[in-house]
Amino acid sequence: MRSEFLPFTRPDVTDGDIAEVIGVLKSGWLTNGPKNAAFEEKMCEYTGCKNAVALSSATAGIHILLTALGIGPGDEVITPSLTWVSTANMIVLAGAKPVFAEIDRDTMLVTPESVEACITERTKLIVPVHYTGVPVDLDGIRAVADKHRIPVVEDAAHALGTFYKGRHIGTGNTALYSFHAIKNITCGEGGMLTTNDDSLLAKIKMLKFHGLGVDAFDRQNKGRSPQAEVFEPGYKCNLTDICAALGFSQLLRINQINARRTALARRYRELFADIEGVEPLHDPAGYDFTHSWHLFVIRVTSDKISRDAFMTRLKELNIGTGMHFRAIHLQKYYREKMGFKPGDLPATEWNSDRICSLPLFPAMTTADVEAVVTAIKHVLAHA
Ligand SMILES: Cc1ncc(COP(=O)(O)O)c(C=O)c1O
Repeated sequence: MRSEFLPFTRPDVTDGDIAEVIGVLKSGWLTNGPKNAAFEEKMCEYTGCKNAVALSSATAGIHILLTALGIGPGDEVITPSLTWVSTANMIVLAGAKPVFAEIDRDTMLVTPESVEACITERTKLIVPVHYTGVPVDLDGIRAVADKHRIPVVEDAAHALGTFYKGRHIGTGNTALYSFHAIKNITCGEGGMLTTNDDSLLAKIKMLKFHGLGVDAFDRQNKGRSPQAEVFEPGYKCNLTDICAALGFSQLLRINQINARRTALARRYRELFADIEGVEPLHDPAGYDFTHSWHLFVIRVTSDKISRDAFMTRLKELNIGTGMHFRAIHLQKYYREKMGFKPGDLPATEWNSDRICSLPLFPAMTTADVEAVVTAIKHVLAHA
């Protein structure tokens, strides 16, 4: 057993990151200002998308995006059930209905076919998730969306550094990134919306800051124009420069961070090749991609131990794990108020009962990966 606890994740914060944040604290401008602008520009440069807006979280992003698209009562939004609850919650809070697309059992990604099966005349938006950092079949999903004239917003919370057919994901649509503390790069909390759509950009910028026609910081005015007025009541979802400085500094290292995550994930894959009782995710076939390795997810398939007991046993052996995610459609509110029930989404439910995310963060060593797999073998052998 390890002498020290190995957490499931740990943010990669360098002295350079800390110096950037201190620089903002000393600058006299703490809320969104020049560091937001620099972070947004760097995101455009890195992803190849035309516009980017920094936000307080990806959840705030989906919230104001639904408002910007005028989605409300009577409308439906398609997304998977195995995602973070915020997407479905925001859809419900907007007065609309989440419609959960089934995932492929092996890749845990929604497919063009599963998305198309959910489309009705009330569908107003499709939000596929690049789960764990693997892209969905974007061309296939876009073809379905275009046929029915429905916009696509990619949930790229896991996918900074994910490329699909040679281009960064998100470049053909609107995408939402998360910089929550466990993400590949972090601001503590934060998010970014990228889009090529200039009119959507203008609405998001307005809605993120009270519905004023300006930002908190106006470069020409060297502050905020005091005459700014409300165009439409909006929200307060701007990112502070304290957070943006951390995100900006980390974004400069994204390739290095993802390369380290990839090396660790490859070692996991090699070690799992001949172990029965757990099954890593499979890669999707039919398109080229690079994986940003936000998560390393296995499914506990052994009939001798449940996933929950497996996680408890690993914790007793000083190894932390996570669960991404518990199917939304079977959670209390969605069962009781929205009528979803077991059996609605068999592949989603099969995975929801078995998934477990293993430790994966840049400061881990190959020996740490080997220790996790040794502990898993021990747990399975003594189940
Ligand atoms: C797939 C997915 N979508 C959306 C979110 C929401 O991101 P945030 O925490 O920045 O609001 C998360 C966060 O964990 C996520 O994993």
